[in-house]
Amino acid sequence: MQVAIDGPAASGKTSLARAIAARFGFMLVETGKMYRAVALGLDRGLDLAAIHVTMNDAGRILLNGEDVSDILHTPQLDQGSSRVATRPEVRELLVRLQREIAQGRDVVMEGRDIGTVVLPNADVKIFLEASAEERAHRRASERHETRIDETLQAIISRDTRDQTRTIAPLNPAKDAIIIHTDNKSLAEVVSEAIALVEERFHTGDTAAK
Ligand code: DC
Repeated sequence: MQVAIDGPAASGKTSLARAIAARFGFMLVETGKMYRAVALGLDRGLDLAAIHVTMNDAGRILLNGEDVSDILHTPQLDQGSSRVATRPEVRELLVRLQREIAQGRDVVMEGRDIGTVVLPNADVKIFLEASAEERAHRRASERHETRIDETLQAIISRDTRDQTRTIAPLNPAKDAIIIHTDNKSLAEVVSEAIALVEERFHTGDTAAK
């Protein structure tokens, strides 16, 4: 079973993916963290060719063998990852890694191009939508940021870059189910998504598309 979750910055993809992984025992793959790890490598002065990003069985992200999972969520790496994600050679490497991880496993994978590029045959595709204002409020409270206007500007600039890049721009797949989350709690979104996955289980028809 493959579940793809896409959506713009701070739309709640990780929280939803985590809940689905826990509920069904699927492996959680946070692909944004991989782009963030590449950006961290570049910030450390490494050459792209010397940057090796991997994921271990616990879902932790390693940069040249070092577990960097807990230091990837900074405003600097928000923008750096979005910038590095426009580079074809980076996307090629990470998409290959993501497909390898998904091979022969039950996964829930979240990112920007999972339903469109990485796992086009995913059994369930969810695209999360929320207004930029709502996402800025969520992000600011999660990170204890007080300048909402700055958080909002950062989100808008990242969305624009992610949506307008030439390769694999952020876009719902044709067969994605769009969930608008503005007036919903995380619990409501989680139960909607769980119902979609269960429906797929019950039809038992994971190949028909
Ligand atoms: O989901 P996130 O905020 O951790 O992602 C960080 C950046 O990485 C995002 O702004 C764009 C890029 N990204 C991508 O291009 N494709 C993905 N599948 C995941 C993330």
